Amino acid sequence: MNVLVAGGAGYIGSHTVKRLKEAGHAPVIYDNLSRGHQQVVEILKVPAVFSDLNDRTKLTQTLRDHKIDCVMHFAAYAYVGESVEKPLMYYWNNVATTIAVLQCMQEVGVSRFVFSSTCATYGDPERVPITEDEPKRPVSPYGRSKLMVEQILADQIIANKNFSFAALRYFNASGCALDGTIGEDHDPETHLIPVTIQVAMGLRPALQLFGTDYPTPDGTNVRDYIHVEDLADAHILAMEKLKPDEPIYLNLGTGRGFSNREIIATVEKVTGKKVAVEEGPRRAGDAVALYADPSKARQVLGWEAKHKDPETIIRSAWNWFSKHPKGYKG
Ligand SMILES: NC(=O)c1ccc[n+]([C@@H]2O[C@H](COP(=O)([O-])OP(=O)(O)OC[C@H]3O[C@@H](n4cnc5c(N)ncnc54)[C@H](O)[C@@H]3O)[C@@H](O)[C@H]2O)c1
Repeated sequence: MNVLVAGGAGYIGSHTVKRLKEAGHAPVIYDNLSRGHQQVVEILKVPAVFSDLNDRTKLTQTLRDHKIDCVMHFAAYAYVGESVEKPLMYYWNNVATTIAVLQCMQEVGVSRFVFSSTCATYGDPERVPITEDEPKRPVSPYGRSKLMVEQILADQIIANKNFSFAALRYFNASGCALDGTIGEDHDPETHLIPVTIQVAMGLRPALQLFGTDYPTPDGTNVRDYIHVEDLADAHILAMEKLKPDEPIYLNLGTGRGFSNREIIATVEKVTGKKVAVEEGPRRAGDAVALYADPSKARQVLGWEAKHKDPETIIRSAWNWFSKHPKGYKG
């Protein structure tokens, strides 16, 4: 299929472009480079349009020129803390921009849509592992922006008989391409694995550990780390399963939770370096434990994460970070 990858110069989008190409599809990157990297596009060697998704003329022209069959929509802002400080920026880029994309698709007659949603739509859930039926009570503008898009998609599939979509709720995307060609480069970096690796590399003085008194075996938060290539593969399978009248909502995780301390210990093992840790109080809005029940994804897509152990994930990240201490800049 011809696939427009909106946000394809970013972390998860670029890994999905790579897997789409390897699976014989024809991805086209569309990205305004606000938080993505031109260098990754050069490595991936696929057609790319560097423009904002709100440029409707450019977007409809791109959908037509490349005879796009499906849009995978990764483009968004994705920092919880920033969303609390700048809610309008988040609702604009994550909700209003998505409406613009859906309108352009409708104008051109593109009917398949795969959406990057998040476990943040569940907020701080009462039960783990989290099933798709768990109540959605997001606790940040970021999480709410993603839930709003899911609601818009639910209305659009009722109103438009050709439209089909999958809303994929990711847990913690992590790791880098296993062949070492592309990686993770967020600025600022806030995700636990890359930050811990940067501390191990001496690029940061210490890791801030927010809360050591949680009701978990070692007192620190528990999260579900899903390798970015496993995530990418789930997108391709979801795209191939899309049907009008059949909305797909899936959790994408491994089903296993690992604590912050377990991740730090694994980074120390993989890198062979000590990680300096500064323990501090809990941070507002952090859920105690978040991990997926991935059984619905297994049923619907026949998909299951291949890399369930943090060591493989962290090795793939270390492989890339150790060669690119300045990210794509070097
Ligand atoms: N990283 C995670 O662990 C995680 C977890 C759950 C959900 N998600 C979601 O997955 C998606 C991708 O996350 P990521 O970590 O790859 O983020 P990222 O910031 O690396 O990638 C997003 C890309 O979208 C582009 N973009 C943003 N707004 C745009 C616009 N208006 N027009 C054109 N391009 C635009 C950016 O330049 C960037 O390249 C996001 O929607 C995020 O909310 C990520």
